[in-house]
Amino acid sequence: MATLKTGLRGGPEARPRRRPPATVTIVRRATFAAAHVLRREEWDEARNRAVFGACAGDHGHNYVLEVAVSGVPEPATGMVVNLKDLDRLMRQAVIEEVDHRHLNRDVAWLEGVIPTAENLALAFWHRLDERLPEGTLARVRLVESENNSVEVTR
Ligand code: NI
Repeated sequence: MATLKTGLRGGPEARPRRRPPATVTIVRRATFAAAHVLRREEWDEARNRAVFGACAGDHGHNYVLEVAVSGVPEPATGMVVNLKDLDRLMRQAVIEEVDHRHLNRDVAWLEGVIPTAENLALAFWHRLDERLPEGTLARVRLVESENNSVEVTR
């Protein structure tokens, strides 16, 4: 068991040591619905089916996007980030671009990308990271179905 030095009786332990402030991570969630197909056009149907299974045909998902931002709460507001601002950013940079779209053909910045959950989460990460204060984006989690999700971290 660890011995905790309370420093209550004075002595060297009583002097406060400078430590970096604890960082806090706050998570905002948003949802969207989109269609996609996982296939390579240069592969024949059999190879696409062998690699991508049922996802080689058109289908859609109700996705959940979770964005985690880390930092030290601002003393004036008690906030790491204003959730109103983070929500607006997520909507403008990602949700409004992909909601009710076909990810293979409707989204310019996904052109040439196989829209797996991994690739989508990475693309979302880059769009959010370049719009947030440097180093504050901690995690992007994309839930594609009740059985699978992916996480991108720094
Ligand atoms: Ni799918």
